Amino acid sequence: MLNNLKRTFSELFGQESQRTFFAPGRVNLIGEHIDYNGGLVMPCAVTYGTYLLTAPNKDGVFRFSSVNFEETYETPLQKAYSKTGKEWFNYPLGVIHNFVSDQKDIQGLDLLFYGDLPIGAGLSSSASVEVVMAYALNTIFNAGYTKLDLVKLTKRVENEFIGVNSGIMDQFAVTFGEKNKALKLDCESLEYQAVECDLADNLLAIINTNKPRKLAESKYNERVSECAEALEALQTELDIENLCDIDGDTFQKHKQLIKNPTVQNRAQHVIEENDRVQLAAAALAAHRLSEFGQLMFASHQSLQSLYEVSGIELDTIVSFCKTYSGVTGARMTGAGFGGCAIALVNKDKFEHFSKSISEYYTEKIGYAPSVYSSEIGTGVVELT
Ligand code: GLA
Repeated sequence: MLNNLKRTFSELFGQESQRTFFAPGRVNLIGEHIDYNGGLVMPCAVTYGTYLLTAPNKDGVFRFSSVNFEETYETPLQKAYSKTGKEWFNYPLGVIHNFVSDQKDIQGLDLLFYGDLPIGAGLSSSASVEVVMAYALNTIFNAGYTKLDLVKLTKRVENEFIGVNSGIMDQFAVTFGEKNKALKLDCESLEYQAVECDLADNLLAIINTNKPRKLAESKYNERVSECAEALEALQTELDIENLCDIDGDTFQKHKQLIKNPTVQNRAQHVIEENDRVQLAAAALAAHRLSEFGQLMFASHQSLQSLYEVSGIELDTIVSFCKTYSGVTGARMTGAGFGGCAIALVNKDKFEHFSKSISEYYTEKIGYAPSVYSSEIGTGVVELT
């Protein structure tokens, strides 16, 4: 595969690529819509992701090409950039923008991207592109950022350049992911522990709804502001900085401060989900996988009924999983509104599971899902 990419690079740019970088996508095992509320999440990197081949050019321009998209883009090195349309190259362009705003000395590059992640399916294809670009620039031009700086810089691309008010989980997982480990990350302090992810006889299945995601960004931003509204209401009596500063019991005692019932539901999800991550991390560490699985189902239920970011497609997948004897736990992962679900599936049953869920889903929804098995991989690297 890399040889093919190298060949494509030479054909496109008339020179050989010099360096190759890779950043993965991620799944979140549990802790959904928590990161922008200062709580705990448990993502891990997958082995699918974005490859970036690059070489400097003498023309002082950035030339963007992708194997996945037809559109290409070329722009000279300048002091600032702004988003142009909705095309894919805005993600790496936003990264360049932040490097030049920080007055980093960078120069023109020919860039070829290839992703084997399903795009826009909730597996952080965008964070993967942002992080691979930032890591490449930092390495090639010795820009001096730490990995944590790169996480923050790429999150700013998403928030300020692209316009999605997302939290820090995706960029963090894509950067710091460790093989066979889940990251138990505190999104307020940014401290994390890499927790051994022993799935026993199970594998991690990813089931893509293949639902076209419309309005996902605006609904996402709507949830972010609902959480801000809930926090403000609670702060009239509680001395807290984030929704996740309190637990479920404290919430029950003060929830009447939030007058809007929908906003109250949003807060309940966030606070109880944060409690679930604590329990899930303990269950995983103690090899109590069936408890971990039950917490995944409970998480999904809450995202469905309280947070309302699921949908018929994701619910169909998870309800199938509940009745399938080889599944220990399942839930939607990522922002929701379509995208992917994950499931812990008995290895020996995976093939049968994959076939059965595809049939069931296709009959209910009218088109097929995609089912993958995934390993837990490492964060961003240069491939040598
Ligand atoms: C998206 C965002 C993340 C996080 C999840 C939901 O993936 O980019 O920051 O909020 O949704 O948990």
